[in-house]
Amino acid sequence: MTRRDALKNAVLGTIGVAFFPRLLAENHYIPLLNRADFGNDFRWGVATAAYQIEGAHDADGKGKSIWDTFSHKKGKIERHENGDIACDFYHNYASDIALIKDMNMNVNRFSISWSRIFPEGIGKKNQAGIDFYHNVIDKCLALNIEPWITLYHWDLPQALADKGGWTNREVISWFSEFAEFCTKEYGGKVKNWMVLNEPMAFTTLGYLVGTHAPGKRSVRKWLAAVHHATMCQAEGGRIIRKNVEKANIGTTFSCSHIDPKTEKPVNIAAARRCDALINRLFIEPALGLGYPMADFPILKKMTPFIKTGDEEKMIFDFDFIGIQNYTRIIVYHSLLIPVLWSMQVPVKKRNNPYTEMKWEVYPEGIYHLLKKFAAYKSVKNIMVTENGAAFPDKVENGAIHDKERTEFFKNYLTQVLRAKKEGVPVKGYFVWSLMDNFEWSFGYRPRFGLVYVDFTTQKRYLKDSALWFKDFLAR
Ligand code: FCB
Repeated sequence: MTRRDALKNAVLGTIGVAFFPRLLAENHYIPLLNRADFGNDFRWGVATAAYQIEGAHDADGKGKSIWDTFSHKKGKIERHENGDIACDFYHNYASDIALIKDMNMNVNRFSISWSRIFPEGIGKKNQAGIDFYHNVIDKCLALNIEPWITLYHWDLPQALADKGGWTNREVISWFSEFAEFCTKEYGGKVKNWMVLNEPMAFTTLGYLVGTHAPGKRSVRKWLAAVHHATMCQAEGGRIIRKNVEKANIGTTFSCSHIDPKTEKPVNIAAARRCDALINRLFIEPALGLGYPMADFPILKKMTPFIKTGDEEKMIFDFDFIGIQNYTRIIVYHSLLIPVLWSMQVPVKKRNNPYTEMKWEVYPEGIYHLLKKFAAYKSVKNIMVTENGAAFPDKVENGAIHDKERTEFFKNYLTQVLRAKKEGVPVKGYFVWSLMDNFEWSFGYRPRFGLVYVDFTTQKRYLKDSALWFKDFLAR
């Protein structure tokens, strides 16, 4: 929100709520949100990922994933933290799922740890791991919470990384074996599936920037990983369609609204390159539009990895697109950053609040993204599969007064509703995250949860933002 908008909102909110509700609605500034405005079939949920919450890293026959290996390497994670124990969801799943119910949410989006099921990535299976996800699913169903499964949220089995991981084209058949198994095993009970979590993030941070597992820094490896992930994205969709009756199939994309710093042509070109990488790289091939090579020419180097027939196979008709949004990007042309040739305007210079991650709070961004994704002809439904914010929470007499986070949700939801009222087919909103957890290379410092976790005692506390949702969803 710009300062002018914030001021306008505050003024209208103070003087006009009771007297001019229509005026407020027309201006899109709706200070009082109602669950009913989103419709009765709108889904409300929380999202998590296996490595970030489960812990039990070597329990009951689980194999290592690339995150088990990476987090134990020196200097990769703040304060040398790792996900060995995390929230110990593996042992606490029943009471943690009960917290979702307690907040009046009706969806639990979680991911499956591939190496808990296939310790070596393919071949031999681990019954204890298979049973664990049955237990998680059954607990959700018993509480009338819909399980939404993400097949892959970044924790590739280490045994497959040893064979090249996402850079090896064989990953398409490895991933297919995993997807075949999960959909046949759980598809009778679970109807909502997401193939990949943010492929742009795991390929770019894992194979180009090197700050995420497996920590590679190579343009060639990155481009190979991108193409193979695109192939798996569509193949995964086909496998779910084949094995799960009445499935609702999606995949998720990290996305950010992007503005050029100024209208200078070089800055506009920089913004276009970032948009191609961040918002378009994985959705466009799935929709049959191919890779956005014209706006991001380095992608042309991907050509050797694209085999005859791949362009057809990259296409899949998803039932929904999952968008995940946290901030806005403002860029200008710069020669200091290779590949993208652009730099971000530092958050401190933007006159807007920002989070613990140094991510600008910009609620209008989610509105623009919803409109942007809805504008693709073949997009049917959109889910906000992640949105949330980290702030430095403090426990005071057993309570966490996270006012900034609650405001964050109210403002973002107002923008989601604005898009919905303008006809965007947005059908649900999932908070990142159910509880504080292992935030990848940042370790446990950024707290994204609705539920506060004391990592020494594993005690949970509902933050005020969780209580706000509980109340909002009860209305
Ligand atoms: C998203 C990831 C999720 C979490 C949030 C903060 O990009 O999907 O695992 O790290 O960011």
